[in-house]
Amino acid sequence: MNAAQETLQVYERWAPLYPPVAHNPLMRIEQRAMLEAWPHVAGRRVLDLACGSGRYSRALLESKAAQVVSLDFCMPMLQRVEGSRRVCASMMQLPFLAECFDVVVSGLALAHASAVRPWAAEVSRVLCPGGTLLYSDFHPEAARAGLTRSFKDAENVTLTVPHQLYSVDEQVGAAVAAGLRLQMVRELRVGYELQEPFPGSESFYSQWHGLPLVLVVRAGK
Ligand SMILES: C[S@@+](CC[C@H](N)C(=O)[O-])C[C@H]1O[C@@H](n2cnc3c(N)ncnc32)[C@H](O)[C@@H]1O
Repeated sequence: MNAAQETLQVYERWAPLYPPVAHNPLMRIEQRAMLEAWPHVAGRRVLDLACGSGRYSRALLESKAAQVVSLDFCMPMLQRVEGSRRVCASMMQLPFLAECFDVVVSGLALAHASAVRPWAAEVSRVLCPGGTLLYSDFHPEAARAGLTRSFKDAENVTLTVPHQLYSVDEQVGAAVAAGLRLQMVRELRVGYELQEPFPGSESFYSQWHGLPLVLVVRAGK
């Protein structure tokens, strides 16, 4: 089984427990930073790339986007998305014509790309000139330090999603090579942006103080 198939299997198990809202402390700081960098979407055509259960699709509809397309390769996730056009496909091969979106938003998914340069090239291909890409992800430094993206399924079994390590430099290089211009690179750190208490947080905060946990990137075409 390759990494994409393994990733899909884990998300199929996660989907019933994955509501379309920020449902943990990491997602809450990530979503706040994404909304602070939110592009102008009213009246625009927007792609929610690797949409999951539709957290950002909802926000895009609330922001009055003219058309929201929600894409994910996990059908049980897509089935939870409401109000937008849903497409089941890989984010590595987008079933869209060139330059058909004004904005692409992608939450917490880049590290599931099989390669970062083709991912950025594919996003750039579907963005029209003047368009905007806004994405977030679990920070590569957090993954390098050994933190994982994991959850307990309905049977209380802990599952961990595979994660590719693309450094910030690689991500920036991929965006530039794809013809995108960086507008913002923001890192959210343990003990700074993340301060919310949770079970076990005292030892988490003392062990990981200062570690970048989330990366948010905005680029224009
Ligand atoms: C951590 S979830 C994030 C969901 C949503 N974007 C959010 O922020 O709430 C990652 C999503 O990426 C999707 N995904 C992973 N690899 C993918 C791929 N190669 N193509 C399309 N979707 C993918 C998963 O199915 C999952 O729904």
